[in-house]
Amino acid sequence: MKSPINFRKAIPLFHNKTEAQFKQDPYERFDTMVMRQTALHLADEIWGHYPIQKVLDFAQAHLPTTADPTILEIGCSTGRWIATLAKSYPKATCWGLDYSYQMLKRAKEHWVLNHTTYLDFTPQGYPEILELSAPPIDNLQFGLAKASELPFADHSQDLLIHSFLLDRLDDPKKALQEMYRVLAPSAKMIFVTPLNFQKSKLWELYHPPIKIHQVLLELGFEILEWTEGMEVREPLDLRGNAVSWNCLAVVVRKKV
Ligand SMILES: C[S@@+](CC[C@H](N)C(=O)[O-])C[C@H]1O[C@@H](n2cnc3c(N)ncnc32)[C@H](O)[C@@H]1O
Repeated sequence: MKSPINFRKAIPLFHNKTEAQFKQDPYERFDTMVMRQTALHLADEIWGHYPIQKVLDFAQAHLPTTADPTILEIGCSTGRWIATLAKSYPKATCWGLDYSYQMLKRAKEHWVLNHTTYLDFTPQGYPEILELSAPPIDNLQFGLAKASELPFADHSQDLLIHSFLLDRLDDPKKALQEMYRVLAPSAKMIFVTPLNFQKSKLWELYHPPIKIHQVLLELGFEILEWTEGMEVREPLDLRGNAVSWNCLAVVVRKKV
């Protein structure tokens, strides 16, 4: 594994993110993005369930059968998915990477350091400020890196996961190539994406989804599962308003 370039509050930084890049990155905005991801992924009690459970259920049949796999989530935000896997595989080595320091700080404080997280969702109608905490997980680490420059050695990861990430990348193909590089032979990658690209160029390159299918094959992946039309509902407020995401859910394996 590469050495970090720097640390910020003990979070390893594998990418030299400039102050300008910090300012430009919407996912560094604490009051909007980090709070939203916190509510979505850490505060099941306000929704009465975990709204993204469907993604975890989709992955379930494809999880490693060994006790001590290396598992990497890219774009982990506040860390719910990788933390869930780290708890299920206490002997695994689990990393959550993200390009947002603020997301990683929240993830590390919540899942590793056992800090209390305060969530003010009163603007969304909830009457009280929530106090959230979780028992510390000792086989889980978080670091700042870009999906297109992963700090891991070739063939080092037994499982790679990402959700709601692919359509947020400037160059999805480059990132998928990098993911292929770090995966061990025959290891799987599981991802779910609403393909809600933000740039016309990306729509041209990756819509309809068959184009992503072709890219995955070109890169050397074997497609094990391909599900279009998975609806994931992202709740917004006490009233039950929600955004409905029309997702593609995929499992691929790196060919030997
Ligand atoms: C829409 S959020 C999804 C978060 C979470 N995986 C989920 O399913 O809700 C996208 C996440 O990807 C991260 N991200 C964006 N660009 C990235 C990149 N180039 N490399 C790694 N993470 C990135 C963002 O910081 C953010 O936390």
